[in-house]
Amino acid sequence: MLSTVTCGALAIAFIGLTLTSSVQGSNHPISNDIVCPTNSHVSFVHNNYMYNAPLHKFTDITGSFFNISWYDSAAVTSTTGTDNVPGATRSGTLAGAIFNQTLTAMDKRPDALIFSYHGNGSTFARRGYPVLTLDGYSETMRFESICGGKATYIDVLTYVCSDNQPLAYSAWSKLHTSTFDGLAMTFGATVLAGRLSSCVLILKSSP
Ligand SMILES: *[C@@H]1O[C@H](CO)[C@@H](O)[C@H](O)[C@H]1NC(C)=O
Ligand SMILES: *[C@@H]1O[C@H](CO)[C@@H](O)[C@H](O)[C@H]1NC(C)=O
Ligand SMILES: *[C@@H]1O[C@H](CO)[C@@H](O)[C@H](O)[C@H]1NC(C)=O
Repeated sequence: MLSTVTCGALAIAFIGLTLTSSVQGSNHPISNDIVCPTNSHVSFVHNNYMYNAPLHKFTDITGSFFNISWYDSAAVTSTTGTDNVPGATRSGTLAGAIFNQTLTAMDKRPDALIFSYHGNGSTFARRGYPVLTLDGYSETMRFESICGGKATYIDVLTYVCSDNQPLAYSAWSKLHTSTFDGLAMTFGATVLAGRLSSCVLILKSSP
């Protein structure tokens, strides 16, 4: 027979799984759990964006794990495994740092692209910022078709182990915003001021 403690733990695990799947939709496995070393703590950065351009405009550019020239001009210099198959790794340089990342999930559907990866510890020296040391991080990005296919919703959730949480937050949040606003601008999509959540308003501002 299961002890009360075990049942409690199972119930919590079950609730966790239920919330996870309803937050993510579909069967996307959450791979954001990271364990931080001593003196390093988990914090998270959550950003979301909407643009008046169809999903494929984004995913044509962001749909390959082995090519992230769109992410702060990151250069992938070596890869292992098969592109877009979990377990694949990529490494190279991003924001003045070396990165080593492992793809943990990839879900490509006609109406969405969702993927997660884990990054090993690294030291980022971005211009205009103090040096930021991360002990590991994971990111889940979701690109979703909205407004009858005329607009795109982007959701980014980053878990970071660091000893400087405010800096980790501001650096990643700015990186996300400049990345996606910049990407949208390359094909003339409007950066929606105030992040309006109405399709009528989004489509009115279509380029
Ligand atoms: C990487 O993606 C960019 C943007 O879509 C593209 O211009 C470039 O040719 C791609 N690089 C490789 C090596 O496929
Ligand atoms: C991380 O990536 C760099 C740059 O590609 C590479 O030199 C290094 O060997 C990688 N380290 C690990 C642990 O994979
Ligand atoms: C990099 O992260 C992976 C998990 O994705 C872990 O298995 C591996 O040991 C880490 N490597 C280093 C050098 O930290």
